[in-house]
Amino acid sequence: MKKLILPIFSGVLFIMVYSSCQKEMAKPQQVRMVVSRDLFSYDYNSTRLTDSRIIDNKKASLGRVLFYDKGVSVNNAKACASCHVQAFAFSDGNQVSMGFMQTPGTRNAMPLFNLPEDGFYFWDMRARNLKDMILDPAVHKTEMGMGSPEEIVKKFRGIGYIQDLFNHVYELEKDQDITEDRIRECLAEFVLSIQSHRSHFDGAAQNISQLPLEVQAGRSVFITAQCNNCHGEDNFNNQAMQNSSVVFVNHPPNFRDKDPYRKTPSEEKDSSNNAASIFFGQDFANIGLDYSYSDPGMSMDLLHFLNAKNPGQGFFKIPSLRNLAYTAPYMHDGRFATLDEVLNHYNREIKDNSVLDERLRIHVFGTDPNSFDVLPQHRKLNLSEEDIKNLKSFLLYLSDEQLVRDPKWSSPFVPVP
Ligand code: HEC
Ligand code: HEC
Repeated sequence: MKKLILPIFSGVLFIMVYSSCQKEMAKPQQVRMVVSRDLFSYDYNSTRLTDSRIIDNKKASLGRVLFYDKGVSVNNAKACASCHVQAFAFSDGNQVSMGFMQTPGTRNAMPLFNLPEDGFYFWDMRARNLKDMILDPAVHKTEMGMGSPEEIVKKFRGIGYIQDLFNHVYELEKDQDITEDRIRECLAEFVLSIQSHRSHFDGAAQNISQLPLEVQAGRSVFITAQCNNCHGEDNFNNQAMQNSSVVFVNHPPNFRDKDPYRKTPSEEKDSSNNAASIFFGQDFANIGLDYSYSDPGMSMDLLHFLNAKNPGQGFFKIPSLRNLAYTAPYMHDGRFATLDEVLNHYNREIKDNSVLDERLRIHVFGTDPNSFDVLPQHRKLNLSEEDIKNLKSFLLYLSDEQLVRDPKWSSPFVPVP
């Protein structure tokens, strides 16, 4: 009973005009667009995901349409893809992103790749599951302005080509149900499929001596400067990757084994919550951008839940260092326009605030090799210009051109020929 559905919508024209009663809203888009005929031709699975997690290609393909559809915002002005642009590794190139009424937000749009299904999302790590959080931007007051997920469902039910797509993907009879859960499922499937593992470095990681000399030198600076204490593992954010073939950068053992920042495993066991299970899942830090933060970052509740030893303001999720060639400006508030500004921060500008991450402070080892003191001051990196140049080469080598080019993640809408 699932005959001729494909021909129906692959040929269908639609005009992106939605009824909108609020006059002050942006003009609806009048361009005639169609869903590309090759919509269902891509394989969204990648070697980077485990065998146990197979992406449903039909759902991801429908998710791709929803991700690029401005109908997800209340006035048809913004799609997810307006702030998560493929050319910018799914960030948006702005210091902070603009919402559906062109009101600036307060944070830098995060790039989207290598996201886990269960992790911590947003700069302040407030959300815990991809499918559960996936419509948060849509119902955000300034980002996309939809009143509720039900409103999105209602709106989609009135759009013919979306109904056709759902009928096709879920093998429904005509005009069966578009549900909130299905919308979430498809969007999450698409976002989960965005995997980045094809940088020059991935190609050569097993063979460090084959890397260009300045990249090799930069990698050494990265390790001696202990960037990998926080930007470790192969997503360069301490997030252990599923199905990882190589761990490119190891944590220096003295930090990995006796991480001064977290409680020890036995302390973990004593604590009454279940934070231990997510111990190395995703990491966060205060890197001394300010003495006092205007954006408080992670909530105290979450910091306590995660057993942060010295909780306070200004803790943010550690971002991946993949794809920095595309993701400027940098930091939660996009304060640094260039990588040079970022490296200058770590080299000279760290503020010794009272909750500065211990991994950025001076450690003094005592006579007992198993203990050390942490001083209140940050450690000085003393990077030379040469070091910085090399470090930059290494960091940029982690960028994945295929991520920003692969058509399977591009807009599925094409203008009417
Ligand atoms: C108006 C711009 C804007 C729009 C539209 C938008 N986002 Fe975002 N997105 C952001 C910003 C800004 C953040 C960081 C927000 C924060 O930390 O509070 C973010 C964060 C995220 C994250 C978390 C990533 C991480 O590493 O933790 C995901 C996932 C995400 N957005 C997906 C989506 C999806 C799906 C849509 C469409 C339903 C969407 N976004 C629409 C700006 C936007
Ligand atoms: C204590 C943990 C920690 C250490 C050590 C550390 N970083 Fe970071 N890094 C972070 C956090 C957390 C952020 C985001 C901070 C924010 O936005 O407030 C960040 C942000 C960045 C960014 C911006 C990425 C983006 O997408 O916005 C770059 C680039 C970066 N770090 C490079 C480095 C380099 C190079 C080193 C070594 C010199 C280093 N980091 C050392 C935790 C750390």
